[in-house]
Amino acid sequence: MSLLLGVNIDHVATVRQARYAFAKNSPNAEPCPVAAGHDALAGGADSLTIHVRGDRRHMQDADAFRIRAEVPLPLNLEMGVTEEMLGLALKLKPEFACLVPESRMEITTEGGLNVVTGFDKIRMVVARLQDAGIKVSIFVDPDIQQIEAASETCAEMVELHTGCFANATGDEVQTELDRLIAAAVAGKSAALQVNAGHGINYQNITQVLSVPHLAELNIGHSIVSRALRIGMTAAVREMKELMGPYRA
Ligand code: PXP
Repeated sequence: MSLLLGVNIDHVATVRQARYAFAKNSPNAEPCPVAAGHDALAGGADSLTIHVRGDRRHMQDADAFRIRAEVPLPLNLEMGVTEEMLGLALKLKPEFACLVPESRMEITTEGGLNVVTGFDKIRMVVARLQDAGIKVSIFVDPDIQQIEAASETCAEMVELHTGCFANATGDEVQTELDRLIAAAVAGKSAALQVNAGHGINYQNITQVLSVPHLAELNIGHSIVSRALRIGMTAAVREMKELMGPYRA
């Protein structure tokens, strides 16, 4: 199986919201996340990822429903573990949901979900999503305890948080890669599908490919940034080409 690419298009909506957050029905509102989804598909995206946050800072509910209806790609909804987001997911019915922590002041998702301390609520949300036919992933730090707890929730997948690796410098880079490798091995032996994401870009992707057992990467910021220069379709195609040599 080749390594799949989920393209996170949240920041297309970020640009639109920068101008049109308070003029939602403006005929001039752009750029359009649905068009970005089509362009990502043309570049070889295997799925789209969107995060409808509690504060609706980028993707709006209407974007989610339009993307679901109009772009023929599997949809992965990143969601906080809240009743509000559970309600949205059950109406939207994406193929996948990825449970993430969310706090209002953060610029982006800062750490993995603490599955150990939040176990009961997470287990309940996993079950309700699965009852609706949605496969569930949990975004976790590359920490064996978290992976074991994720497995006990009966989620099908974990997404390993690659942010610490992406931010590491010097000797820390290999230390963080080793953590990811150990976490991937633990995920595989717990029979979880192992995905990874956060801070992956066109430079560090080569090192990410040294992590075994990966099924899918979710990449947003670097692809949207590259798309500003060469267009979304070419940006996605470039990333897929870099991922091509991966062997699990
Ligand atoms: N995976 C998860 C769970 C995330 O929260 C994010 C950021 O929204 C990503 C992947 C993508 O991260 P980046 O935008 O840094 O590629």
